[in-house]
Amino acid sequence: MQIFYKVKEIQDYLTKFNSESVGFVATMGSLHKGHLSLINASQQENKITICSIFINPKQFSNQEDLIKYPQNIDLDIEKLKSVNCDIVFIPNVEEVYPNKVEKEFYFGVLSEVMEAKHRPGHFNGVAIVIERFFEILSPTRAYFGEKDFQQLAVIRALVKKINSSVKIIGCPIYREINGLAMSSRNERLSEAEKEEASEISKALTYVCQHKNSHSVTELKDYFMNRMSMNKLFVPEYFEIADKNTLVPINNWSEAKTYIAFTAVNVEGVRLIDNMTIIN
Ligand code: PAJ
Repeated sequence: MQIFYKVKEIQDYLTKFNSESVGFVATMGSLHKGHLSLINASQQENKITICSIFINPKQFSNQEDLIKYPQNIDLDIEKLKSVNCDIVFIPNVEEVYPNKVEKEFYFGVLSEVMEAKHRPGHFNGVAIVIERFFEILSPTRAYFGEKDFQQLAVIRALVKKINSSVKIIGCPIYREINGLAMSSRNERLSEAEKEEASEISKALTYVCQHKNSHSVTELKDYFMNRMSMNKLFVPEYFEIADKNTLVPINNWSEAKTYIAFTAVNVEGVRLIDNMTIIN
């Protein structure tokens, strides 16, 4: 596996693969099986696979969250080697942002609801870093997890906006056996807290199974009450949205396909999850 820290060095190396397909997986490190499933998807479809590890300061509105973000570079490199990833790119902030960037992206409703509403500036920071990585690496395809479903929608919108030729591939959520969606942030929870946190996906499953017998409002109340009853949890939001547009709905008649979204703080660790509601 090749390891690069500098933009120029990785770009020089990539000239060797000019006419080959290049798959790209962007991460912030502390890799888990969810990340590795994206690497695997890329390896199926591309000649070479690049994984980036970069904790992007521009997407954190909360400085404390940025400082506390877990970091495990040596272990990450070992994990990437073990799955035969071809290239890992680990740039520092100066490499990614040599010049001041003050772009303001607006993606319509995606910039206003759920994660966008609760983390102002977050998706702008994500769009800035992904545009920059696409500029540096010019991948053929880029792989993103449905765990961050709204982020995936933002990146699809970004590619349209900037007229990029990168093909965006969405990959399913990888979960623990107890249902908890894998996340680097889970590392900040004890085993017992992780077990408790699986309540989030269990409550989402309940919601998905009760579409036909309950109204949207009833299911919203159910979810928020179930979360509030657990003393470790502070629920931030729960929405049922149109799966195509991500516009939150209040009545089933407002959409044809649905997806439930939530963010819950578990002992100060902010976890997000989502689940498609099958009609
Ligand atoms: P990070 O949270 O490290 O996630 C990197 C990629 O892994 C994202 O596409 C995310 O959706 C995917 N992922 C995370 N957990 C997953 C799971 N349990 N199952 C499937 N995929 C999962 O998302 C980011 O980093 C950043 O915002 C980034 C895109 C790298 C930009 O900085």
